[in-house]
Amino acid sequence: MFLKRDTYALIDLDHLKYNVEKVHQQFKRPLMAVIKADAYGHGYKEVASFLKDFDYIEMFAVATLKEAIELRELGIKEGILILGAIPTSKEDIDLAIKYDISLSMVSLDYMHLLTHLIEPHHKLKIHIKLDTGMHRIGLTTKEQLHELLATINPDQFEIEGIFTHFATADCDDVAYQKQVDTFYDMVGDLKFKYIHCCNSAAMAYHEDTRSNLGRIGITMYGCDPAGKESDEFKQVMSLYTKVAMIKKIYPGEKVGYGLTYEARQEEYIATLPIGYADGFTRRNQGRYVWINGQRYQIVGRVCMDQMMVRVDDRVHVGDEVEIFGPHISLESMAKDLNTISYEIMCLVSNRVPRIYMQNGSIKKIVEFK
Ligand SMILES: Cc1ncc(COP(=O)(O)O)c(C=O)c1O
Repeated sequence: MFLKRDTYALIDLDHLKYNVEKVHQQFKRPLMAVIKADAYGHGYKEVASFLKDFDYIEMFAVATLKEAIELRELGIKEGILILGAIPTSKEDIDLAIKYDISLSMVSLDYMHLLTHLIEPHHKLKIHIKLDTGMHRIGLTTKEQLHELLATINPDQFEIEGIFTHFATADCDDVAYQKQVDTFYDMVGDLKFKYIHCCNSAAMAYHEDTRSNLGRIGITMYGCDPAGKESDEFKQVMSLYTKVAMIKKIYPGEKVGYGLTYEARQEEYIATLPIGYADGFTRRNQGRYVWINGQRYQIVGRVCMDQMMVRVDDRVHVGDEVEIFGPHISLESMAKDLNTISYEIMCLVSNRVPRIYMQNGSIKKIVEFK
């Protein structure tokens, strides 16, 4: 394998398959694969191309119109819902209709705005978004929903679905249940092709019987929604680099910008070609990497393109370094950094090549996306 860099992310498609199948076996209903934010850093074109052959992947969810259009241009035929962004220009609405992309209908005002933007004889697909407690986007009352249904022009809009999003399916059962109750109270006996509310946490930790589509995100990528260390899912992304240089330093000598680390004895310092421009933030100073079966500490500040690790004489130039992967889970890293696995994956930057593995061999390499 020849790469133009020694730092790369491995994306294990077999793990992706394992995770999706596992969730589908439990949930037993079709899934909408959430592949926004470049599939949480995994590469949304590759992930969509892989998942489109799974017959229970009914739809894809993205965040922006650009992502949705690129999926269509890639040949994705499944439904595509834009979850978050709220396109407000006529050009955006024309494109959504042209590319058969479904938008989230987030308020009565938004419906009125779109009514004026849709060309005569054109029809926009929508999923009505209900705000059942998170207070991000969506209609907030049953009255608003009924007014929308009473006034929406069926010649302009095709209502494909209705949905909500949970704020605490991973951490607060009471607040979660309140949202569930609010959602089904608002939906009542109304009929929709798709009724969806479950994210990964809801599918993993709760029983829901009324929805007919699950929105799978973080568990598909192999992480626990609540950040627990668990082997229930298989982490899809691993990040590696290689030792570029090793030098010996002596007591009192210091390392990196600001000279924040001082050697107490004779020490070996390895330099690795990865830094915060790769998405490996400066907050990682003091954490660990994995080399030849051992943990070694990151010393000094993480630079833009490089960082230093205190090693010993068992480590050599060219040795492979695991930044996260089989020995350093994203959950443990998230805990160290006081964040969530989602953020760490999404931060892995575009200059890190992605190597797609399937059945133990390389399927595709995407360099410098
Ligand atoms: C509306 C919506 N649904 C589903 C998801 C997927 O969530 P998760 O990755 O926790 O499964 C997200 C993720 O942010 C979302 O915003």
